[in-house]
Amino acid sequence: MFDFEKVKEKNFFDVINTRKTIRKYTNALPPIEAIKMIADAGRLAPSATNTQNWEFIAIYDEDIKQKMANAVENEFEKLKKFVKSEDDEIKLNGYKYYSMFFNKAPVVFAIVEKKRISTMLGILEKNGMGKEELIRYDNRSSILSMGAAIENMSLCAHALGLGTCWMCAPLVAGKAFNEILSLNQDDKVVTLLTVGYPQESTPARPPKKTIDEVFRIVR
Ligand SMILES: Cc1cc2nc3c(=O)[nH]c(=O)nc-3n(C[C@H](O)[C@H](O)[C@H](O)COP(=O)(O)O)c2cc1C
Repeated sequence: MFDFEKVKEKNFFDVINTRKTIRKYTNALPPIEAIKMIADAGRLAPSATNTQNWEFIAIYDEDIKQKMANAVENEFEKLKKFVKSEDDEIKLNGYKYYSMFFNKAPVVFAIVEKKRISTMLGILEKNGMGKEELIRYDNRSSILSMGAAIENMSLCAHALGLGTCWMCAPLVAGKAFNEILSLNQDDKVVTLLTVGYPQESTPARPPKKTIDEVFRIVR
């Protein structure tokens, strides 16, 4: 059972400092209250013009997870035929590994971006701006909003003692996901976020750049 009160005492900086991607889980099912708390952390994230154009679908259903994994497998089979060199086929196979383990996670969140046209693009489009020029004015705020929600969710899961893996590689089968999850055509799964209790021994977090490499002050 979760001790939710204890979780609330967790230090914010410790949570940030100790989070790492977890790709292997025990078979234990995270309780629905915890999964709901994770979705709630996503709900509270900032979003461009506060549109909140997201939906968080927690998939426990093994058949659905398997259907999604089969769809990813099918897409990679197609891509294997598409690439021309053996070298690229090997690279593709390596990449495939990072898209295939989500069905083994006890819970998988499908993070859905609901179609949203930014205020600015809406105005420009209405006034006849062509598609190519519109791209120049697209500040990608919708996908950034999704990222804010996903990071909130990852950190919340970690604070609850759960591990996550933020996964975009399986999105090769994005179209099939829409069908499997009965989504509207315009909506889009932008990430699968796996959730589960980490296996006892998990790889260390990969090295990060130093603060001096990524930070500078202008004054
Ligand atoms: C946008 C995004 C997409 C990612 N997609 C995948 C993925 O498809 N498969 C995977 O195994 N990991 C994926 N990851 C996890 C990264 O590989 C991981 O965050 C990175 O190696 C740094 O490790 P850390 O999370 O432990 O700091 C993704 C992470 C992000 C932010």
